Amino acid sequence: MSVNELFDVIFRWVHLIAGIMWVGNSMLFNWLDRNLEKRGHELGKLSQGKIFMVHSGAFYEAEKMLLEPGAMPKNLYWFKWQNGITWISGICLFIVVYYMNNAAYLVDPSRHGTSPIVGITMSVSALFVGWIVYDALWRILGELRPRLATALSIAMLFGAAFAFSQFFSGRGAYLQTGVLMGTIMTGNVWFTIVPSQHELIDATTTGRPQDPLISLRAKQRSIHNNYLTFPLLFIMVSSHFPAANQSYLNWAILIVVMIGGAGVRHFMNIRYRGDGVQLPTPKWLAPAFVMAGIAAFGLFVGTRVTAPAQARFDGPVSFARVQEILATRCTMCHSAKPSDAVFKSAPLGVMFDTPAQIQVMAPKIRYRVFELQNMPFNNQTQITSQERAELARWIDDGARTE
Ligand code: HEC
Repeated sequence: MSVNELFDVIFRWVHLIAGIMWVGNSMLFNWLDRNLEKRGHELGKLSQGKIFMVHSGAFYEAEKMLLEPGAMPKNLYWFKWQNGITWISGICLFIVVYYMNNAAYLVDPSRHGTSPIVGITMSVSALFVGWIVYDALWRILGELRPRLATALSIAMLFGAAFAFSQFFSGRGAYLQTGVLMGTIMTGNVWFTIVPSQHELIDATTTGRPQDPLISLRAKQRSIHNNYLTFPLLFIMVSSHFPAANQSYLNWAILIVVMIGGAGVRHFMNIRYRGDGVQLPTPKWLAPAFVMAGIAAFGLFVGTRVTAPAQARFDGPVSFARVQEILATRCTMCHSAKPSDAVFKSAPLGVMFDTPAQIQVMAPKIRYRVFELQNMPFNNQTQITSQERAELARWIDDGARTE
C-alpha cells in the first residue's frame, strides 16, 4: 500500500465515523424537537416540552427549556466537533484523492484542457466563493425575503453542479459539489449556529432576552443543513457509480437525485406533529416513496439516455486481437505491475494479465469501454472507436479465449 493509499484509508475511516456521529446527532435532535410533548405534563414556564424514551435498559426523560438567569449548569455538553472533524477529515480525504496524484481524478484532459494546477485552483476557489456568496445572500435576504433566498440558493447550488460538470471529471464534479455542500454546512455550524448558542448562554447568564435575529438565523441554517444531508450522503458514495457520474448528463442526474433525496428528508421531517401526534403513515410514507422514486428514476433513466448509438464491428474478432488491444490500451493500469505514473496498483483490483482475468471481466469491459465509453480512464491511452467496437463484438460472440 502506498503512503497515499494509507492516508486515503485513515481519512476515509475517520470521516465516516465522525460523519455518522454528526449526522446521527443532528437527526436525533431534530427528531426530539419534533416530538416534544407540551400537553399532559407539568411544565415550568421556561419549558418547551418534554419527551420520554426507552433505551439501554431504562427510561430517559428529556426536557427542552430555557434557563433562569444565572442557572447555568456546571456541565454543559456541546455538539460541534462531530461536525468539525467530519469536515476536516473530508477536506484531507478530498486532497489525498482528488488533488494529489496530479489531480488525476479531478481533471479530465480528454474533455477540456484543464491542467492539474488550474483544476485545483478552481476547486479551492469555488469552495470559498460558494460559502461567501451563500452566507452573504442569507445575511442580506434571510429575514426579509427567505423564500427568494431559498430559490436563489437552490438555483446557485444546481448551477454550481452544472458548472463543475463542465470543468471537472465526472467523479470530480460530483465530489466538488459534495465538498461545497459540506463546507456550507460546516460554515453554518461554526459561524451561525455555534455563535447563537454562545449568545443564548450569554443571555441566560446575564439575565437578558436573547437576540431574536441571531436565533432566527441559526434556525434557518440548521434547516438548510437538515435538507442537505441526504443529497450529500448520496454524493459521498457516488464514486461507486460511474454510470451516473461519468454520464454526459451527470449534472442533470445529480440534480434529480438531490431533489429526490431532500424530498425524502422533507416527508420524514413533517411526519411528526409534536405532542405524540404523527401524520397517518400513508400521508408521509407515500410522498416519501414518490421522492425516492424520482431519485431512482433519475439514476435509472438518466444514465440510459446518454450513450449515443455506437458503431458496430462486423465479423469475428480473435482473442489474440483482444489481448493486443488490452495490452496497448489497458494494462498500463490494469495489471499486477502497472507502468502508469499514477496508478501503482491495479485500479479496483481489475487486471488483464491472464485469459481468465479478461474473460471474467468481459461484461464490465463491454459496459465501460463500449456502452459508457469511460474506460480507458480519461481515454489516456487513446483507444479508437473501432477498437471499442471490436472488444464489444468479441464479448457479444461469447468472449471465447481459445
Ligand atoms: C490510466 C489508467 C487506466 C487505463 C489505461 C484503463 N483503466 Fe480501467 N480503470 C481505471 C481506474 C482508475 C478505474 C477505477 C475507477 C472507475 O471505475 O472509474 C478503472 C476501472 C475499470 C473497470 C471497472 C471495474 C469494476 O469492477 O467496476 C473496468 C471494467 C475497466 N477499468 C476496464 C478497462 C479497460 C477495458 C481498459 C482498456 C480499454 C481500461 N480499463 C484502461 C484506470 C484505467
